[in-house]
Amino acid sequence: MPASEATPDRRYLIPFRSQLLPQVFTDVLVIGSGVAGLRAALEASASGEVIVLAKGPLDRSNTWLAQGGIAAVIAEDDAFDSHVEDTLVAGASLCERATVERLVADGPAEIDFLIERGMRFDRALDGSLALTREGGHHCRRIVHSDGDATGRELVRTLLASVSSTPSIRMFEQCFALDLLTSGDGQGGEERVLGAITHHPKYGLQIIWARAVILATGGVGQLWRETTNSRIATGDGVAMAWRAGAKIVDMEFAQFHPTALYIAGAPRSLISEAVRGEGAKLVDRAGRRFMEHVHPLAELAPRDIVSRGIVEQLARVQDSCVFLDAKHMGSAGFRARFPGLTQMLAGYGIDPGTDLIPVTPAAHYTIGGVATDLQGRTSVAGLFAAGEVAWNGLHGANRLASNSLLEGLVFGQRAGSAASREGTPRVLARIVSDIRPSDRAELDLADSRSSLTSAMWRNVGIMRSAAGLEGALDMIAFWSRYSLDKIFDDIHGWELQNLLIAGSLVTRAAAWREESRGTHTRIDFPRQEDRFLAHSVWQRHALEPTITALGEVGACV
Ligand code: FAD
Ligand code: SIN
Repeated sequence: MPASEATPDRRYLIPFRSQLLPQVFTDVLVIGSGVAGLRAALEASASGEVIVLAKGPLDRSNTWLAQGGIAAVIAEDDAFDSHVEDTLVAGASLCERATVERLVADGPAEIDFLIERGMRFDRALDGSLALTREGGHHCRRIVHSDGDATGRELVRTLLASVSSTPSIRMFEQCFALDLLTSGDGQGGEERVLGAITHHPKYGLQIIWARAVILATGGVGQLWRETTNSRIATGDGVAMAWRAGAKIVDMEFAQFHPTALYIAGAPRSLISEAVRGEGAKLVDRAGRRFMEHVHPLAELAPRDIVSRGIVEQLARVQDSCVFLDAKHMGSAGFRARFPGLTQMLAGYGIDPGTDLIPVTPAAHYTIGGVATDLQGRTSVAGLFAAGEVAWNGLHGANRLASNSLLEGLVFGQRAGSAASREGTPRVLARIVSDIRPSDRAELDLADSRSSLTSAMWRNVGIMRSAAGLEGALDMIAFWSRYSLDKIFDDIHGWELQNLLIAGSLVTRAAAWREESRGTHTRIDFPRQEDRFLAHSVWQRHALEPTITALGEVGACV
């Protein structure tokens, strides 16, 4: 059991009322049970006790939803340099090369790791791994499972390994409210010591740990139109921010070009692999338009295809374009994309004979909590991996199917580094810095839907100074009425986290007066050399610190 420590107590933006909470101790606490969290847990479990949290059921994560697959250099005609180059090109000169090289070099070993643990990848007739292609890749290098259900099979495989590892405990439906830190929150030495959690049945509890790994995924729920799971509310970024960690490049959010567009239906992803198998984008009149935009046409990097669609929609005054996959025939489409076939059939669409209505939607959070290549953040005892983290891998735009691999490679590294972390400590007393407030309470559901609409309208695919300023004013207003409250349930905590994440994205987008990768400023349409840099944001600092490219560690 950790030794008690008399470090002065400190603030928690999302506090609790009782000091007499149940307490649990572990070596490593992993917050998140997607690919990054599970991979980190498996690694850390080799040298200690691990607890993994999921705020919902285990099948609710972006990992579970992943369709296209996992990119890795497998084919004989492929090469590490080619995967590195494609990643750098997609990243629009803002990738950190050392991170990209690490990812690509470790890729094949991680695929072997999954195969050894029983992952059932799709195979070609000769028994070799079936490989597909997606936007920005110059080679077929994406392995997949059950056609379009790679994420589900990946989670099944990792969970099977976790459940046969006695040193890992899984806490499902257990929401991490905030990190517990020593220090004064004013720039003095901080150390993460654990987290406060809430379970609907067991209530609040404290989990003390020698190290905490954030693997909470991204902030995709910030935008009204999103392919993301409901869990993607930026909790990890907001917790890290409150704990004083550095947050980098939040202006970069990837919009996937092809989410299903049916009024009232969720924006379900139509995998880029559908275009990889030859489907074309057409407008309502059946005209292709991407050929005129980029030499790779429908398979150009995602930012280019998303903007191409938005521009075509403006030209033809329509609300969606269409994917034409009829060349595959109904049986061919069903064989390659069984999950999509079933989902589309629910809306009466047969891709063998019908066009699929699509529109861009928020998809992937590129910025995040700054880490080095071992997953270390700028706060001692705190690690991050997967979509919540930033390590310079994706630059200004993520290459398709690089992020499941990122979760594997950097989850493994974070798990390994965290398991070697310091001595356990606990705080003698915990206090909150939320001052009592007599401001009225806003309706949570209404504030959240207003926030996501404002983000889509003003901080979406096309941005401008006036729109960003308007969004900042709105976020400041909602924050005044929401961040000063002590909420009792997940809806309030998620809104607080979304507001913090929304403010970070919008401030960073206003700062970057250029267009690069996923970040398009209509008032600054060109790339500018002076913005070949990362913006680093930290609590208590009004302006970002600007860090030149070249060394990931410089941002941590
Ligand atoms: P997630 O898988 O999102 O997991 C986050 C975990 O954190 C969840 O378990 C959640 O419960 C937990 N959590 C969050 N907040 C809290 C909290 N406060 N307390 C406790 N637990 C919390 N990438 C590819 O490479 N290939 C693909 O084919 C692909 N397809 C995609 C399809 C879709 C529809 C989407 C949305 C994304 C896709 N991506 C794909 C991206 C990729 O799936 C994600 O980037 C990746 O899975 C993120 O993994 P993660 O472990 O970081 O987070
Ligand atoms: C897709 O299948 O299009 C998603 C792949 C990804 O986001 O990497």
